[in-house]
Amino acid sequence: MKIKANAKINLTLDITGVREDGFHTLSSVMAPISLCDEIVIEKSDKLSFDCNISSICDDKNLCVRAAKLFFESLNTDERASIYLEKNIPFPAGLGGGSADAAAVLRGLNSLFGNILDEKILYSLAERLGSDVPLCLYNKPALCEGRGEILTPLNRMPTLDVVIAIGKARLSTPEVYFEYDKASLPIKDDTSNLLKALESRNRDEIIKAFGNAFEPITDILAPETKQLREKMLELGAKNSRLSGSGPSVYGVFDSAENAKKAAKALENMGYFAVYCQTL
Ligand code: C5P
Repeated sequence: MKIKANAKINLTLDITGVREDGFHTLSSVMAPISLCDEIVIEKSDKLSFDCNISSICDDKNLCVRAAKLFFESLNTDERASIYLEKNIPFPAGLGGGSADAAAVLRGLNSLFGNILDEKILYSLAERLGSDVPLCLYNKPALCEGRGEILTPLNRMPTLDVVIAIGKARLSTPEVYFEYDKASLPIKDDTSNLLKALESRNRDEIIKAFGNAFEPITDILAPETKQLREKMLELGAKNSRLSGSGPSVYGVFDSAENAKKAAKALENMGYFAVYCQTL
């Protein structure tokens, strides 16, 4: 069985507090995108994992952790072989590992006759990482709590986007740490976006996208700021950091303009790819 593992972008990301366990509460609208990894899963007598990128081909990979968790919750000796074809850049803030984990849960469940109900599947997803529930849902949603409390957003239009990454790397825990130190005022991009979705005004919707980490990542990795500025110069209607970076996305008014911008960024030496939100 072959399944797609779609990456995600954060259209908004407001940090609303810090929990006792150190995790942050957030209010983020996320959308899956067509950029994806591919996973091949077959039934087997033992669990095996292989990947086209050797540096991530070990037991720590979220594909393996998701499969172990899945089999732990079943009373069976059956196992599976998993092959991951990695296309989503990492680490990027695009939820690539989370997408793989969600796809493995979804794929295994389907291979074993949908033996686990949705509620259990989501509880396993939650244990694997903050973004895994959204990846399991695989549609635009408001994500609250640590990211695991989902509210479907049916009015989100399909967007033509360019995803780009330069050479800068960012560590998620470091971005959260520096964010806490900076004591910035809480942003309200998410409620502005929810209001814009009510009005169904496409320009207002796109204008509301934002990311609370940008003042931090602009300093930690100035290249991400330059990339956002380049997206706007190339005609993007808005351009934001995704997650804790370093990936940046630009939203364009047509597929044609987005493809042109992706080509221009590629010629400047960036990784750049055109895709659509799901
Ligand atoms: O859950 P995930 O693996 O994506 O989290 C990676 C790191 O990001 C955590 O170890 C934590 O430092 C930070 N994080 C957080 N609050 C969240 C999500 C992530 O502090 N809601």
